[in-house]
Amino acid sequence: MHLTIVGSGYVGLVTGTCFSNTGNQVTCLDIDPERVATMLRGDCPIFEPGLSELMTLNIKAGRLHFTDDKTAGYADGELIFICVGTPTGADGRSDLSAVMAVARDIGHAIESGDCTVEHPVVVVKSTVPVGTTSKVREVIGGITNKPFSVADNPEFLREGDAIRDFQQPDRVVCGIEDDRSRELLTKLYEPYVNQANPLMFMDVESSEMVKYASNAMLAAKISFINEIARLADYYGADIARVREGMCADKRIGDKFLNPGLGYGGSCFPKDTLAVIEMGQDSGIPCLLNEAVHEVNQQQRHWFVNGVIRHYGDALAGKTLALWGLAFKPRTDDVREAPAQTIIEELLKRGTTIRAFDPIARHTFAKYGLDIEYVDDMYECLTGCDGLVVCTEWDEFRTPDFELMKDRLAAPVIFDGRNVWHDDNLHEQGFAYYSIGRRPLHQTCSAS
Ligand SMILES: NC(=O)c1ccc[n+]([C@@H]2O[C@H](COP(=O)([O-])OP(=O)(O)OC[C@H]3O[C@@H](n4cnc5c(N)ncnc54)[C@H](O)[C@@H]3O)[C@@H](O)[C@H]2O)c1
Repeated sequence: MHLTIVGSGYVGLVTGTCFSNTGNQVTCLDIDPERVATMLRGDCPIFEPGLSELMTLNIKAGRLHFTDDKTAGYADGELIFICVGTPTGADGRSDLSAVMAVARDIGHAIESGDCTVEHPVVVVKSTVPVGTTSKVREVIGGITNKPFSVADNPEFLREGDAIRDFQQPDRVVCGIEDDRSRELLTKLYEPYVNQANPLMFMDVESSEMVKYASNAMLAAKISFINEIARLADYYGADIARVREGMCADKRIGDKFLNPGLGYGGSCFPKDTLAVIEMGQDSGIPCLLNEAVHEVNQQQRHWFVNGVIRHYGDALAGKTLALWGLAFKPRTDDVREAPAQTIIEELLKRGTTIRAFDPIARHTFAKYGLDIEYVDDMYECLTGCDGLVVCTEWDEFRTPDFELMKDRLAAPVIFDGRNVWHDDNLHEQGFAYYSIGRRPLHQTCSAS
């Protein structure tokens, strides 16, 4: 099949590359000329494990193409996937301007004949509020009377595991309005689904809602465990034990119940806000989702407060090392990364920050924060008055603690991801603070 993928970000590029890998002819169209030039050189513009290798394979096989030229991009797409961003706008509402701009481009391509396919199917893969796919149909239909269909096909991949998630999805959800969409999407997804990992067809509105309901549920689990972790902290319980006891209950399970700095990234924060927005628009307040969002935002500040309590007035003038800038491991994505808030709060209080991240240093630099970037995780610690951990990268799991102690001016660790076990660290002479496993405020007020 011939596919056009509009938007070559974390979702579009993975989608295009994976579909080309199952034998389709794929053209990735993006308006960012720099990004397109990078891809035309055969380079991958984002960090996603395995993506670069898969791109190379399919470029060499002549199945994967890139362009910023709309005429070429829309020429032969039987299925046109919209994979552009849908961020939270300045007014707090979902910014659908990129989706609608693409809808207009598609309308003009169909009307002008640049799109040579007789009846293309336009598939919204971007995460969009319920009713958006319908609006996309109206926009295109307002430009052309030629035949086309619209469908919604939300994406559930996780950055860091995107290739595996795409190739072995738990399920593929398609919101459709006609048989043509069903037929083409069935053919396209056939290599990826089976009885246990089904392809589901439903109406467009339900499909749009599935994505939000899923992300809101996962976000709720994260905020839930973080709220319990704060209570554990206060009452002297150990959240690791609490979690163990709680998650042994099969009704609860253990996924997305890891205490930490809360969720970040380009999905959970904005998708939770979009659910709240849908609630406001419909007059059905989404109180639970409002609380989920609030708890998440507070979590970073709660953590910083622990750092402030440890140093007291002496915080100004201290230098802290910080490990982990990405919003999660195995990605260079720093959108809504907790590290940003934490660094800003510490800088405000006169702290100097030396930061290390295995991958995300360059993407983080766009925030323009006045911090020093260090290329080596141990060198980053040299002369610092403590270490703050914001991302649980694999390389942090079993570090050389002796070397860390040698490098740090003071052996103090604030572990925002519960990467290590506190008993070991206390025995090795570290002051070690983590989430919900040490009564931070009690320890600090006592010291
Ligand atoms: N990132 C994720 O993990 C993830 C997972 C599931 C769903 N989603 C959803 O997928 C959508 C895309 O997310 P993303 O993270 O890939 O975004 P992104 O910001 O990484 O990429 C968007 C791309 O679209 C391009 N673009 C913007 N306007 C365009 C236009 N008019 N024509 C052509 N290209 C255009 C941009 O240049 C950019 O390369 C969002 O709705 C997001 O919520 C993201």
